[in-house]
Amino acid sequence: MPKTLGPRDPIEVASRDEISALQLERLKWSLNHAYTNVPHYKKAFDEKGVHPDDLQDLSDLAKFPFTVKTTLRDNYPFGMFAVPMDDIVRIHASSGTTGKPTVVGYTKKDIDTWADLGARSIQASGGRRSDKVHVAYGYGLFTGGLGAHYAAERLGCAVIPMSGGNTEKQVQLITDFQPDIIMLTPSYMLAIADEFKRQGMDPAETSLRLGIFGAEPWTGAMRKEIEELFGIDALDIYGLSEMMGPGVANECIETKDGPTIWEDHFYPEIINPETGEVLPDGEEGELVFTSLSKEAMPIIRYRTRDLTRLLPGTARSMRRMDKITGRSDDMMIIRGVNVFPSQIEEIMLEDVRLSPHYQLVIDKKGPMDILTINLEGSDPSVSVEDREAAGQLLAKHVKNRIGISVIPVVGAPGTVARSQGKAQRIIDMRKK
Ligand code: DLL
Repeated sequence: MPKTLGPRDPIEVASRDEISALQLERLKWSLNHAYTNVPHYKKAFDEKGVHPDDLQDLSDLAKFPFTVKTTLRDNYPFGMFAVPMDDIVRIHASSGTTGKPTVVGYTKKDIDTWADLGARSIQASGGRRSDKVHVAYGYGLFTGGLGAHYAAERLGCAVIPMSGGNTEKQVQLITDFQPDIIMLTPSYMLAIADEFKRQGMDPAETSLRLGIFGAEPWTGAMRKEIEELFGIDALDIYGLSEMMGPGVANECIETKDGPTIWEDHFYPEIINPETGEVLPDGEEGELVFTSLSKEAMPIIRYRTRDLTRLLPGTARSMRRMDKITGRSDDMMIIRGVNVFPSQIEEIMLEDVRLSPHYQLVIDKKGPMDILTINLEGSDPSVSVEDREAAGQLLAKHVKNRIGISVIPVVGAPGTVARSQGKAQRIIDMRKK
């Protein structure tokens, strides 16, 4: 065991039988809690002709109705809460792209569980209490900043609550405060790398040992890129505000093979997104979660729209999820071919002449969908001709491997928009 690892929660190393028994007991509680205290669930269960008592086995969960983002919007702002406002101690919200925000609430115990699972996540990443943690996820209604903050504090780390943005200052604090761990989106980490270089410093020379990245999809190729740029281990943290926030699942440093789902608090299923049918472990589909311990806002069978598959446990007995290939919302259909930004990202990162920053613009020319890939050279020393050649080669690989024609536009370093949080990979001009 690497010396970075501290003691684990006993449930992390419990047998599958113990985990399943705990899940069944908690699932019964959660279904009852939702049914009794949230009018939406009473109505939805009654309409489907199911009652919490119908759950005798974990597989019986498939009989219960799904919850979707619009369910939360329809009950805006507090209609999904299962406890009186007196017992709520925190409210977060995610803005989404359209309409009303999705609101979530927490009791004191929920916040405690979140901090515990966040601390467990940092520890699984190889963090320990003596570490300094620089948090560059945004603080505010977004769960990233405060989620990472409470997690690091619970583990006993020294937290630097920097929040997102102000990239020059990020570099200054990383240089002066000498943190061991950084937590932020992978795309913002790349923007910080640029700023180090702009100031004439090598990002590989920082004090950082670990990065815990999430809130957006990122590929294995991007992991390698970031690890090499900063000379760190890059770990994947997954979460969503509807379930809690960051720390629903986290990768273990021993194996770095996809986030381990903290199954003692979240019950995962994979469904066929078209039919809603539950798929066996190992098959790719949409990830669905049911909360097992949440008091303020129990969530039953929440359709995340994240596409992945469930894998057996490795470093822990709990199951893992594969790195997310994309959100169903991010799937582009270009002349009948389904494409995710992650597929383009992987191909792009094979060419050292290209920087890891990119944006995809979809437009229409007559009846035809046109996909333009905005890219940039990795270094000012890469000539215009070389940039052009890299763009043409990328287009060729995309055509051969994905089967679509794209227009590469490769600018000088710094020309692609930088993210300070979640990167906007797709700009769909057809919707404008
Ligand atoms: O992004 C919570 C979070 C903050 C997770 C910081 C990790 C780190 P939301 O804003 O509600 O919550 O967005 C949730 O982001 O359904 C995924 O589509 C995406 N996402 C989150 N983590 C990952 C990840 C936070 N590690 C949505 N890989 C989710 C891929 C991720 N996608």
